[in-house]
Amino acid sequence: MLGVAGGIAAYKAVEVLRGLAESGCDVTVVPTQAALKFVGEPTWSALSGKPVATDVWTNSAEVQHVRLGQNADVVVIAPATADVLARATHGIANDLLTNTLLTARCPVVMAPAMHTEMWVHPATQRNVAELRARGIIVLEPASGRLTGADTGPGRLPDPSAIVDAVKDVLRRKPTNDLAGVKIVISAGGTQESIDPVRYIGNRSSGLQGVELARTAVSRGAHVTLVAAHIHVDPPAGVTLINVSSADDLYAAMHEQNADVVVMAAAVADFKPDVEASKKIKKETLSSEHVTFELVTTVDVLSSLVKKRSGSTPLIVGFAAETADNHDHLLELGKSKLSRKGCDLLVVNEVGSQEVFGSPENCVTILASDGSAIQIERSSKASVADALWDLVAPRVSVINR
Ligand code: CTP
Repeated sequence: MLGVAGGIAAYKAVEVLRGLAESGCDVTVVPTQAALKFVGEPTWSALSGKPVATDVWTNSAEVQHVRLGQNADVVVIAPATADVLARATHGIANDLLTNTLLTARCPVVMAPAMHTEMWVHPATQRNVAELRARGIIVLEPASGRLTGADTGPGRLPDPSAIVDAVKDVLRRKPTNDLAGVKIVISAGGTQESIDPVRYIGNRSSGLQGVELARTAVSRGAHVTLVAAHIHVDPPAGVTLINVSSADDLYAAMHEQNADVVVMAAAVADFKPDVEASKKIKKETLSSEHVTFELVTTVDVLSSLVKKRSGSTPLIVGFAAETADNHDHLLELGKSKLSRKGCDLLVVNEVGSQEVFGSPENCVTILASDGSAIQIERSSKASVADALWDLVAPRVSVINR
C-alpha cells in the first residue's frame, strides 16, 4: 500500500508508484484529501491499474479501512508530512491512510518530506523517535533545495532510493533487530592528490558499503554513510557525508558518535609527500622515469580501535586480500584481525574473482572470539545482511 500525504512532494510519489509497479508490486494507492490537491485521482489509478482508495466512506461494504492494512505486505508513506507523522505517532485515525496504519501488521516505511523548520521542530523529532522505537522505518529526508528558495534537510529521498528501501524490506523476513542503533559506515575509495588534476585512487565502487547502509536502514538503524567517491547512488534514509582523501575520512569518522562502525572503504595506504599546488608539467620532468616521494597515510581503522573505551563502538573492518588459496586467505585475514584489533573482519578475496563494482561478493567473516563464517557467493545485499546477523546480537549485549 502506498499512502500519499498532502505535501508538494506528492508529485514525486508518482515515480515511487511507477518504480514499485515496474518491480512487480501490486500497489494500492491511498492518497489523503490534501494529496489529491497536488496530484489527482486519475494519475494514481492509471499508474496502479486499479481504483484508488480515497476515503473511509467509499466501498464501505468491503470494510477497506481495515482490509487494506491487514492485506498489505508493506505500507509505504511517501511523502510522510509532519502532520501524518504526528497522527501516526498518536494513533489518530481520521482518514483512510491513518486508519490503515493502525490495522497494518506488516513493515511500514515512511519517507518524510517537509520544510526544514518542520523537520527539525522538537515535536516532529519526538514523533519520529517514537515511530522508530515502535519499529517503523522512518527514512532520513534528503538535504537540498526545497519548494521555495530555501535549502536544508526535508527533501523527499530520491524516488528510486525509496523503491530500493521497500524492495529491501520485502526481500527478506522483516527484522528490526538494529532499531535505534547508530551505525557509521565508510564506503568507496579515497583519492590522494598528486596535483590539481591527478590523484592516486583505487578500484572500489562503494557498492558493498552502500548495501550495508541500505540493509541497516531497513533493519531500523540510524545510519551515517561516509562516502569516498562512491560510483553508485547512496541509499535513502542515511545521513551522507562526502569525503575525498584518507585524512578527510579520518576526520569524518572520528567526529561520529556510534554504536557500530564499519570500515568498508578502501583507504589509500600511501599518498604523495607533497601535493603540487599547480599541475605538474611534462617539460619540467628531467627523465622518462618519474619519481614521486610517497608517505604512508593514517590507518583509520586502527586509530578508531585505539580511541574507543571498553567495547563501544563495535568495530568491523574489511580486508582486501590476494591469496594463493582459501587457507592462505584465512591466514592473512586472521593476522589482519589481530593487527587491527577490531571485533569482526570481513575478508574479501580480491584477486581471482571480480569484486570491485560487481553486484556479488564472496566473503569470510572472522570474529575476535576465533569464529569464522563463510558466506557463499551472493549479492552484496545478502552479504550485508549476513554481517548484520552477526552484529545485532553483539550490539544488544553491549546495550543491555
Ligand atoms: N584501512 C584504514 N586506513 C588505512 C588503510 C586501511 O582504515 N589507511 C582499513 C580499511 O577500511 C579496512 C581495513 O583497514 O577496513 C583493512 O584494509 P586493507 O586494505 O585490507 O588492509 P591494509 O591495512 O591496507 O593492509 P595491507 O594493504 O597490507 O593488506
